[in-house]
Amino acid sequence: MKYGHFDDASREYIIARPDTPLPWINYLGCEAYFGLISNTAGGYSFYRDARLRRLTRYRYNNSPLDVGGRYLYLRDNKSGKYWSPSWMPTRTKLDEYECRHGQGYTIITSKFNGIKSSTRYFVPLGESLELWQVTLTNESGSDSDLSLFSAIEFCLWDANDDATNFQRNYSIGQVEIADEVIYHKTEYRERRDHFAYFACSEKLAGYDTQREAFLGNYRGWDQPRALETGESVNSEAHGWQPIGSHHVKIHLRAGEQKQVIFILGYHENPKDDKFDPPTSQIINKKTVKPIIEKYLQPANVDEAFNILRDYWTMLLGKFQATTPDADTNRMVNIWNAYQCMVTFNMSRSASYFESGIGRGMGFRDSNQDLLGFVHMIPERARERILDLSATQLKNGGAFHQYQPLTKRGNNDVGSGFNDDPAWLVIGVAAYIKESGDWSILDELVQYENEAGSETPLYEHLQRSIQYTLDRLGPNKLPLIGRADWNDCLNLNCFSDTPGQSFQTTTNRDGKVAESVFIAGLFVLACTEMAGMAGNRNDKAEVSKVQKAAAEMEKTVWASGWDGDWFRRAYDNFGHVLGSKENSEGRIFIEPQGICIMAGLGVDNGNAIKALDSVDEHLATPHGIVLQQPAFSQYYLHLGEISSYPPGYKENAGIFCHTNPWIMIAETIVGRGDRAFDYYRRINPSAREEISELHKCEPYVYAQMIAGKDAVTHGEAKNSWLTGTAAWNYAAITQYILGIRPGFEGLEIDPVIPANWEGFKVTRVFRGATYHITVTNPKHICKGAEKVTVNGKQVEGGLIRVEEGVREVNVEVVMG
Ligand code: GLC
Ligand code: GLC
Repeated sequence: MKYGHFDDASREYIIARPDTPLPWINYLGCEAYFGLISNTAGGYSFYRDARLRRLTRYRYNNSPLDVGGRYLYLRDNKSGKYWSPSWMPTRTKLDEYECRHGQGYTIITSKFNGIKSSTRYFVPLGESLELWQVTLTNESGSDSDLSLFSAIEFCLWDANDDATNFQRNYSIGQVEIADEVIYHKTEYRERRDHFAYFACSEKLAGYDTQREAFLGNYRGWDQPRALETGESVNSEAHGWQPIGSHHVKIHLRAGEQKQVIFILGYHENPKDDKFDPPTSQIINKKTVKPIIEKYLQPANVDEAFNILRDYWTMLLGKFQATTPDADTNRMVNIWNAYQCMVTFNMSRSASYFESGIGRGMGFRDSNQDLLGFVHMIPERARERILDLSATQLKNGGAFHQYQPLTKRGNNDVGSGFNDDPAWLVIGVAAYIKESGDWSILDELVQYENEAGSETPLYEHLQRSIQYTLDRLGPNKLPLIGRADWNDCLNLNCFSDTPGQSFQTTTNRDGKVAESVFIAGLFVLACTEMAGMAGNRNDKAEVSKVQKAAAEMEKTVWASGWDGDWFRRAYDNFGHVLGSKENSEGRIFIEPQGICIMAGLGVDNGNAIKALDSVDEHLATPHGIVLQQPAFSQYYLHLGEISSYPPGYKENAGIFCHTNPWIMIAETIVGRGDRAFDYYRRINPSAREEISELHKCEPYVYAQMIAGKDAVTHGEAKNSWLTGTAAWNYAAITQYILGIRPGFEGLEIDPVIPANWEGFKVTRVFRGATYHITVTNPKHICKGAEKVTVNGKQVEGGLIRVEEGVREVNVEVVMG
């Protein structure tokens, strides 16, 4: 069953009923101010860092689902009847309801008792504020006396502290109300130089800033006292729970329409100019006032919205495809690209499955996220690379994550994940291939954010490679350390204490357990490094990495190949994992994907063998599971992977992130039909019809779909923030459609389903627009018979960049 539909022309997903299987969310903001917003206006906002600068409060894990949000209430003052135009929190049965999620904005429209309400939520580019643009229309046929209430609950900035440290927090909350604007200024009196503000375009009938005054003691957001009585009491919060609620009285004649604007914003003042007058404790509002005044004008709000729409048209315009498959087109052209931007901004910090408190920006994750957004905003990819590499350890290793506000690495989720450094090499290569900006390699970058430790970024990459070479195990395969890509394969952990973190506990010295996955990743990284070193004419490095890669490849054939597939690892006792010798965990997906992507087995037929094994043992109609058979019990020597019940997460779930590796591997061996079949199995748009089972949003990828061992096989979880976004984008655009940035230019090498007649792509690349038409008259999967570039036939699929050429027409005839 479907809960809505795609509107491709407006680039929106339209949700047609509020009670979706889970809250279906969207993101506001794309620079510094962000918000999560659900289809019933749930969610919260923060400035840069979901943990350290949280503006509004949200309650996870709650019942009812999704409590805390950007709430509005309407009240018919004649009858006293009140409702939420976004359905939550009153859950009044609405006569009409529709939620449109677009890129960076959400519009919730509904009708009740003849009053139509439509609220557009978005964050203007360049601002640290969000707008709620409410349009009310009286379609009831008679005059109405209405009250409109807004309601948000402020978070006391540090989201973790806010949720735990009540003995302090109940005494520190402070607000200021001036010119009918509600200012939240908890801790402003001491070390903070920032505050939040909540303004309304209309004359107020009243306001409330103390939660219990608005709600009434022991009452929930579904039945606030203020709505029952129709009156705010102008409460001023002193400690306890500061909120922001405006009350506006509106008389609407039959047929009349009225717009009300709310601004929720974040503002910083210079440290030495915080108060006005300077000797007081009153917020200096000189610099914030013009901003508030500007956005209380509807014309300015409309203009800001149009700018945001145009911005997204420009970004998405960098890659537009027309293929015979509608689900592919809308994911490539709109939603997958959009999700890539969101993962770039959020990494794995804030979603409805990530609390915004636990994880900052992951080193491995952010490097992979680059693959999906670098073509849209290469300048910000550059900045991200420099931030990431400045947290790199001197020994070439990495902090596993860093906090976006401080840009400092930390060990909160452990370190010593031995795959981390290799991803930096791959991320930097992706950036250079896209932008042609070789200068990044000469940027001086610190290690561990330490002044004086700077070396060129190039040396960071060299140290990344060396990190693996310095850590080889008994079979000469890379030591796994804490874990590799699979965070849950903890071969040195040996934890038998409940609640202990698998990510930070180590009970073995780590000198034995090895990873075949890192071996494949290392070969891939060496190939990229050779390309970059070659460009610098650093022959010594080229030959070093080529030799190292060749050695590693030999090692994989000696100890990492199981006869029909690549093995996964060796454990702390030197026993193999991911082999016919194992009764559980006989075959894993990760090494099949990564080793073939690194080119292993392509010439000797083993790649085909491995992929056929994947098809036989791991593929399901809902995607490819991570391993088989699932672990039926907890194994001390394997760690978190065996902590999950079979079929979930890393224990044989369909861990979607890995599926595109197999798609890519299938294109490498030329099997376009298979590659595309796998692509469609996890494409969320193609799964829209089974939303009741899938449960998550049909417009974005989820991290996981329950595997065949799970009772809920096919059910998705952990939507939005996943490496699945970037990798699927890479799989479909670069490998299936085959339009791939390379160091030398744009490579075109489609590997498509044989039944396709062809496809068209417009691709902006290094300042030129490529109009690419591929035709497939012989109905094959791979191979170009003829390639013409601006009318001239060329050899092979590489189109070199030509200075000054702005439009490039490319025709490819497959055959
Ligand atoms: C999560 C993590 C990612 C890891 C994967 C597999 O998606 O964010 O870093 O590779 O899980 O464990
Ligand atoms: C990854 C895994 C998850 C694990 C976490 C630890 O996200 O997917 O299962 O608990 O890493 O940080």
